[in-house]
Amino acid sequence: MTDLDTLKSGALAQIDAAQDAAALETLRVEFLGKQGSISGLMKTLGKMPPEERQTEAPKIQGLRGDVADALEAKKAQLEEAELEARLAREVVDLTLPAPQAPKGSVHPVSQVMDELAEIFADLGFSVATGPEIEDDWHNFTALNMAETHPARAMHDTFYFPDVDAEGHRMLLRTHTSPVQIRSMVEQGAPIRIIAPGRVYRSDSDATHTPMFHQVEGLVIDKGIHLGHLKWTLETFLKAFFEREDIVLRLRPSYFPFTEPSVEVDVGWQDVDGRRVLGGDGDAPGHGWMELLGSGMVNRRVLEFAGVDPDVYSGFAWGLGVDRLAMLKYGMDDLRAFFDGDNRWLSHYGFSPFDQPTLSAGVGAKA
Ligand code: DAH
Repeated sequence: MTDLDTLKSGALAQIDAAQDAAALETLRVEFLGKQGSISGLMKTLGKMPPEERQTEAPKIQGLRGDVADALEAKKAQLEEAELEARLAREVVDLTLPAPQAPKGSVHPVSQVMDELAEIFADLGFSVATGPEIEDDWHNFTALNMAETHPARAMHDTFYFPDVDAEGHRMLLRTHTSPVQIRSMVEQGAPIRIIAPGRVYRSDSDATHTPMFHQVEGLVIDKGIHLGHLKWTLETFLKAFFEREDIVLRLRPSYFPFTEPSVEVDVGWQDVDGRRVLGGDGDAPGHGWMELLGSGMVNRRVLEFAGVDPDVYSGFAWGLGVDRLAMLKYGMDDLRAFFDGDNRWLSHYGFSPFDQPTLSAGVGAKA
């Protein structure tokens, strides 16, 4: 036998005996790696006289090819064996109980927003949105709050340090009212929208969080008056609280963007020491609770948004979604809404299958 034959039979025997992928890799490096024995033989070809190289080259190349094929075949065999072993090891016991289904719930704020969208869709409103990072013009100026307007100070605004391309100061919107402006500018009149979303103010205690949720409403058409406002809010609140005895009280108020402005209170009654909505707040054992701000859209606001105030009029309102959720579902601390505590969420959250629909009742069953 030649040296090459000895080398070959030795290599093939070692490859055949390899127990695992790591051992096989060691052999590959040993024979075919840069410093490997067969690679060394290949290098000798260069120095041989041409006649010798003609006879030796095919033998050495043949050896390299055979060893490479053997390594490849053994690798496939080892992988196959490994898969077989794993399949034999891993068993599925179909008699085991099913794993607990993952638990997730719908946050009360999301639930209430869905309920509101459902109720107002039925009244012909569509849902509008706007950016949470707003400019000063949409958040204040176009809502009839000029630079020097004192109402600006009441909003505890989070401002950004820089201005946008047009030189507007940027801020986190302090209310959903700028969506009124954006919707009118984009769609013109007539219009019927609600705009739910997050708003931000630099304020924090048991009843105030720096981020909270509002729903804005806006109706613009010919001949709209305060009666339409009252009917709309009454109809909405009866559907939302699922009681017919909801009584509203409209109180004169002031907002720069409405004229006249009204604050809307809802009557409550004492039932076994608990305040339950319903009934005339002036009756004995009854009271009023402030619910939302509203009014007839100020002519100046219509002008800012490009709607002709001599042709169109309208009403608007803004209400706190978090407060509404607390009222309907009986939570008492606003801060818990944003803690992300799973115990709170599983207690107050709703099943994802409990979609509010008007036919089944918008009130959640959970
Ligand atoms: N934007 C007001 C706020 O956040 C709430 C509000 C009051 C909205 C009256 C309105 C409205 O649309 O007409 O305090």
